[in-house]
Order: sequence, then structure tokens, then C-alpha cells
Amino acid sequence: MTAPNFKVADHPLIQHKLTLLRRKETSTAEFRQLLGEIALLLAFEATRDLALTKVEIETPLETMAAPVLDGKKLCLVSILRAGNGLLEGMLDLIPSARVGHIGMYRDHETLEPVEYYLKLPHSIGERQVIVVDPMLATGNSAVAAITRLKEAGAKRMKFVALVAAPEGISALTEVHPDVPILTAAVDRQLSEIGYILPGLGDAGDRLYGTK
Ligand code: URA
Repeated sequence: MTAPNFKVADHPLIQHKLTLLRRKETSTAEFRQLLGEIALLLAFEATRDLALTKVEIETPLETMAAPVLDGKKLCLVSILRAGNGLLEGMLDLIPSARVGHIGMYRDHETLEPVEYYLKLPHSIGERQVIVVDPMLATGNSAVAAITRLKEAGAKRMKFVALVAAPEGISALTEVHPDVPILTAAVDRQLSEIGYILPGLGDAGDRLYGTK
């Protein structure tokens, strides 16, 4: 799978933890714990290119010009509800990040995503935005969420997933080629009913124990 704005986070710790998380025997508690740990590692990778500026500080020995993050606090946007599993782990690494939520459901007749909830921090256009959803399957929700965030003023966005299907990557890069994608894995394909294969099942159900 090659797309210009697309990266697989192939760190061995991420890959090992993802394998544990995929297994059907993995309990809800373990799934939640592993997703949080992988999210933190993905956040580390997704923020690698944040801009720095220098401020003058005093160490116990002398003053120095030391690097700090430049600009406004970054903004994490969770696509409900499974996105919250990635969000929480990322907040462990970036506790001062601003947080937005976007909720969408699939209309059974049109099969199109319909927005039912949106709450975003102010000045989203001045922030680096990281949109999170563990499963990039058809890409419909990701495309709709990013379109909506652009309408709300977001300019600099990245999309972070745990597992992506080739179909989802193609759909997202076709509509939003300016939005880089970071994922821990690219799986084989989508099933007829839109599950990622081999995947890990329904991320929301596994995270919250709802099945
Ligand atoms: N959403 C999920 O939770 N799992 C999939 O496999 C596809 C979409």
C-alpha cells in the first residue's frame, strides 16, 4: 500500500501490543490498557514534526535558550465512540491538549454518515489537529469528520488510526490528500459488511464490553 501522505508506525512495541490487542481472548480490561499504551506511542510519532521555539530559562547553573513547543496547544478530536480509546492514551502524553468530539452514525437507507454531535475548542484554525479513530474501514466517517472540521476552520490536520483497510486509506487520501494518515497496521481488506479483515472486531464493543 503506497500513498504519499501515509505512514505505518512500525515500532516493535506498537506491533507487539497490537498483536496482543487483536486476539479474541483479550479481555476488555486488557484491550483498554493496550489501546491506551499504543495510543501514547502513536501520539509520540504523530507529534514528531511539531514546531519548536526557544525560551530563556535558568538552570541551577546558568541561563540558557531552551526549546519549547511553539504556537497554540494542539487539538485532539475523537470520532465517537471508539476514538475515545485512542484519545485517552494520547492525553497521557499530551495532557494540555485541547479536545474535540464528533459523533456520527450511519443512515441505514443512504449508508451515509450523519453528524449527531460536535463540540470543538475555539481557535481550531490556529491549532495542529489530530483526528483519532481506531478503525479506518470504509473511510466514510473519517472523510465526513475531516470535511466537517475543515468547515469549522481547521487547517492543519492529521488522521491517526490503529488499523486501516486499503479501501479506507484510498477513500481518505482521495478526498483529503492534504491530511497525513498514521496507522499501526494496514490489514488485507474490508468484509462485505464493512469490518476490517483480519482486524480486531468492533473496536467500540471491545473497548467498552458492549457485546
Ligand atoms: N469499525 C470497527 O470497530 N471494526 C471494524 O473492523 C471496522 C469498523
